Amino acid sequence: MAPRKIIIDTDPGQDDAVAILLALASPEEIEMLGITAVAGNVPLELTAKNARIVCELAGHTDIPVYAGCDRPLNRTLVTAEHVHGKTGLDGPVLPDPKMPLAEGHAVDFIIDTLRTQEPGTVTLCPLGPLTNIATAFTKAPDIVDRVQEIVLMGGAYFEVGNITPTAEFNIHVDPDAADIVFKSGRPIVVMSLDVTHKALVTKPRNDAFRALGNKVGIAVAQMTDFFERFDKNKYGSEGAPLHDPCVTAYLIRPDLFSGRHVNVEIETQSELTMGMTVADWWGVTDRTPNALFIGDLDADGFFALLTERLARL
Ligand code: RIB
Ligand code: CA
Repeated sequence: MAPRKIIIDTDPGQDDAVAILLALASPEEIEMLGITAVAGNVPLELTAKNARIVCELAGHTDIPVYAGCDRPLNRTLVTAEHVHGKTGLDGPVLPDPKMPLAEGHAVDFIIDTLRTQEPGTVTLCPLGPLTNIATAFTKAPDIVDRVQEIVLMGGAYFEVGNITPTAEFNIHVDPDAADIVFKSGRPIVVMSLDVTHKALVTKPRNDAFRALGNKVGIAVAQMTDFFERFDKNKYGSEGAPLHDPCVTAYLIRPDLFSGRHVNVEIETQSELTMGMTVADWWGVTDRTPNALFIGDLDADGFFALLTERLARL
């Protein structure tokens, strides 16, 4: 089967970095058309820098990295240095990128790519706030039907919020953008906190990354050593939750994941629940299902896949 053509839209972020590495290590299944950076975990200047750092770490300076939106559609940017550190990639000491940013805005890259690739052949993989995606859909409505699928990390139902009592970070930062994407009518797969909080980098799993002995394995171990603090303190987790790598792992091994096709709508009015993904998991409304909401995974299978692939870089 031909590799799936994707654009990763991202706000690196240690977990975004691992997701990108997994994609770059899997050319049989994934053809990375480009990476678009968005403001989220840290400001845009840093997410655009970090995306290039990760590409160079993987030895993939051939991947075009574009800078996108530096703030949400309507709200003030909320960042997460308390989770990811000042640089957004705290943990390993990695060199500043030598590769330049690609010319042009990320939103125009998304539009141009969807217009030039065959309809239904490009998958969008947002790993941060949905600002770039929503802006592209608004600026060029003709591209929406050309999207094969949107496989994103965001939202929560049983896990509720990780940045507010009710909202997951990516959706909370730009709920208006999320509302546009979830109402786009395209097939959406949602890697929610319900599943990503089960993808924990326990010590044996972290040791396995380090034991790979290559610079990627050691860097990933150092990233997750740093990144785990927030969730260990807040949830008592056994390790860092690998939120974003669930997206790229799904593209390679969808059988590792399970969920339900349900209606998901985004709270955009109440400040109390702003950015909540209201998932009709129990089918108590007549709202039309619009998303495959993932709630569970084979965690051992996920980490086996991830470790095997990181060994390739
Ligand atoms: O809530 C987790 C999400 O927010 C992940 O994508 C993480 O990288 C941050 O962007
Ligand atoms: Ca992210």
